[in-house]
Amino acid sequence: MKDENLTIIITGASSGIGRAVALELALSKPKLVIVARRQKELMKTAHAVKRMGAKVLPIVGDVRNREDRERIVNLSLKAFGHIDVLINNAGLGKANLFIDQPEEEIDELIETNILALIKLTHKVLPIMKKQGKGHIINLSSTLALLPSYPFAVYSATKAAVKIFSDCIREEVKEYGVEISTVLPGPYETNFGNVAGYGKSGFQGYEVLKLAGQIAKLVSNPKDDLIKPWFFVPLIWVTKFSKRLKRKVISGIADEIIKAKRETDLTMKLEEKTQEVAEILAR
Ligand SMILES: NC(=O)c1ccc[n+]([C@@H]2O[C@H](COP(=O)([O-])OP(=O)(O)OC[C@H]3O[C@@H](n4cnc5c(N)ncnc54)[C@H](OP(=O)(O)O)[C@@H]3O)[C@@H](O)[C@H]2O)c1
Repeated sequence: MKDENLTIIITGASSGIGRAVALELALSKPKLVIVARRQKELMKTAHAVKRMGAKVLPIVGDVRNREDRERIVNLSLKAFGHIDVLINNAGLGKANLFIDQPEEEIDELIETNILALIKLTHKVLPIMKKQGKGHIINLSSTLALLPSYPFAVYSATKAAVKIFSDCIREEVKEYGVEISTVLPGPYETNFGNVAGYGKSGFQGYEVLKLAGQIAKLVSNPKDDLIKPWFFVPLIWVTKFSKRLKRKVISGIADEIIKAKRETDLTMKLEEKTQEVAEILAR
């Protein structure tokens, strides 16, 4: 099928990887259904994609919500008649030591990163089966294979995404449906701000390159896309050396805990500055 005829749903397209993938895909002018909760940010993606000549249907919605998931599927079918690719990208991290993690954060991570992804896949699969073809691309993380604190619950959700994808890949092959998993390392997006370490100056990798690689995946399914490339040998080596694995995991943890401390400090300073400014303005 030519790219212009493909209908592609991307969840979490109001920023970061989802927005960058939408822009990459827009180059081949498919029909894009883009989803996120923040309307203003989602519309920025929609306008950019439209300017590039792609047809776009923005849907403001929360993937955790059953009615919103139904709306995503029904509106996509109503507008374009078929669903060829689903990119389950919406997700978030929370950098917190497990012992300190509020229960609401645990709920949000599990409900968004894995429960919503499984349920949206469950809604879309029968449509793809009926079409005799389709492709589902799930966003996991290198933390699925190098699970690290202070990301215990996040790592667990992303490991679940990888295992779920591996399981259904075999099941749905006979319907002509492909399943790809993307496992990114740290990329420069809004992820750090949501996770709570974004104001520390912690630098991730350039997201546009990753977006290009995900866009290529649409027509060339791959079981696992691990990026940047050097995580492939790193993950492989850590399978055989427990000592190295511990070193890598504590290295990641030290970096993130340091970045989170700096962010907390910056935010406290910002709050204090705001308080002083308000007192002076009275
Ligand atoms: N950046 C990284 O370093 C990295 C590494 C590995 C994996 N990942 C994964 O890549 C995916 C994209 O993350 P990102 O880095 O691009 O972060 P981001 O810039 O924060 O983007 C996350 C996107 O998910 C959407 N989202 C979150 N909760 C949602 C919900 N309940 N309903 C609908 N949309 C929701 C957000 O939109 P709204 O807030 O507007 O709803 C936003 O568009 C995530 O699954 C993340 O776990 C990221």
